[in-house]
Amino acid sequence: MKSIDSLTPSQIVAELDKYIIGQGNAKKAVAIALRNRWRRMMSDDAIRDDIMPNNIILIGPTGVGKTEIARRLARLARAPFIKVEATKYTEVGYVGRDVESIIRDLTDLSITMVKTEMQERVKDKAAENVEERILDLLIPPLKKPAGFGTSTQRLSSSTDSEFNPNVASDEELNERTREKFREKLRKGELDDRTIELDVKAGGNPTMQIFGPAGMEELGMNIQDMLGNLAPKKTKKKSVKIKDARTLLLAEEAEKLVDNDAAVQEALERVQTSGIVFIDEIDKVAGGISGSGQGGPDVSRQGVQRDLLPIVEGSSVSTKYGLVKTDHILFIASGAFHVSKPSDLIPELQGRFPIRVEMDSLNEEDFYNILTVPKNALTKQYEAMLASEGVTLTFNNEAIREVAKLAAEVNSSVENIGARRLHTILTTILEELLFLVPDDIHEGTILIDKDYVTKQIGSIVKDRDLSQYIL
Ligand SMILES: Nc1ncnc2c1ncn2[C@@H]1O[C@H](COP(=O)(O)OP(=O)(O)OP(=O)(O)O)[C@@H](O)[C@H]1O
Ligand SMILES: [Mg+2]
Repeated sequence: MKSIDSLTPSQIVAELDKYIIGQGNAKKAVAIALRNRWRRMMSDDAIRDDIMPNNIILIGPTGVGKTEIARRLARLARAPFIKVEATKYTEVGYVGRDVESIIRDLTDLSITMVKTEMQERVKDKAAENVEERILDLLIPPLKKPAGFGTSTQRLSSSTDSEFNPNVASDEELNERTREKFREKLRKGELDDRTIELDVKAGGNPTMQIFGPAGMEELGMNIQDMLGNLAPKKTKKKSVKIKDARTLLLAEEAEKLVDNDAAVQEALERVQTSGIVFIDEIDKVAGGISGSGQGGPDVSRQGVQRDLLPIVEGSSVSTKYGLVKTDHILFIASGAFHVSKPSDLIPELQGRFPIRVEMDSLNEEDFYNILTVPKNALTKQYEAMLASEGVTLTFNNEAIREVAKLAAEVNSSVENIGARRLHTILTTILEELLFLVPDDIHEGTILIDKDYVTKQIGSIVKDRDLSQYIL
């Protein structure tokens, strides 16, 4: 069986096709980048470290799937993924965040991801432990007579418990009750019983350490240190057994996971398969090349210069250890309406060798976006209303009409790509979403072309109105 890691480029594209309509070139580019990683991992030791990732710039208007492609790719590869906006990093050292925080955040994500996976793997064992713990609370296990003097009665009867028939039957009795309760517990008969748990008192909420930019790292370490010094407080809490199960399950699963191994794997994963998506890269590309008269250009270039080391490959210190960024895949994106990729500083251009232009979406694409993906908007609304007992269905003409209107409004007002489908659908369904469940709480609602026209036909025709509503 093929594992996710060894999907071929065309298989990766096929996976992406399930969620993203069109954009064949972009899909190809990211598929190659992903496969190249695997190729690198499989390659000869001598050359492996020299093979660089194929960083990509996705160029295209808003709402055509740039972010979506990167996000899906990361999910497919089970890769730690972070999306950042290049503009957040303007005026570094003063207002913006330092770029190394990108890598630290990505590492945090990787840790969570790996731990979650590991906990998932031990969840059966954890569930067993939880059952034992709940049983211990319900029927405390018998205290083994510890030496002499625990009980005067026992002392007087016999000093050797093994030959005492009473003690043996106590144990047996206890064991039998336990099994009885175990059965009840499994059947869920005790779900509403309340038990008392020791729960960790939530962390150290008031501790916050502020520092100047670049000191984040230090701040974090201090916080960790103090956090470890502070005594771990627990407090008693009464909960229903069904809720206790969830609480204890998290605790037990955490206990079963080897923390050091998790950190090790998470660091490895971030370094070999992390993906950083840098949005709005065009906004930090200098508009007028060679102006160099200070002003915004300086800070824009500053951001690019700051980004350079992490894109080129450097070591970033995180609270889990050093993270080498050499093989992290960077996908940058931007509309590049005013600036061009060639306005980026040359060093950075060189680090993003692959440029892909995304297509703007037309009526046919919109129709497909509404029907093909598993998570298509129409299906999302159907699922939401199903939870209220109402069956929502869109017929084909209605969907055609929505696609047509989206294309119309995009060309007459502003092209916001597939995001237009969101605004149009919410407007069409607003009334219905309000009426359920008070006035409509069952049955089937068919959305046809007439319904669509009735809800938004007049808005679409009125350009001023559609500017505000759609
Ligand atoms: N080609 C597509 N196929 C399917 N869904 C799409 C496509 N393009 C966009 N969408 C949907 O539209 C929404 C916006 O897409 P996305 O976030 O990828 O836009 P973007 O290209 O990153 O835009 P921006 O430049 O504004 O960040 C998402 O909900 C996404 O599901
Ligand atoms: Mg985006």
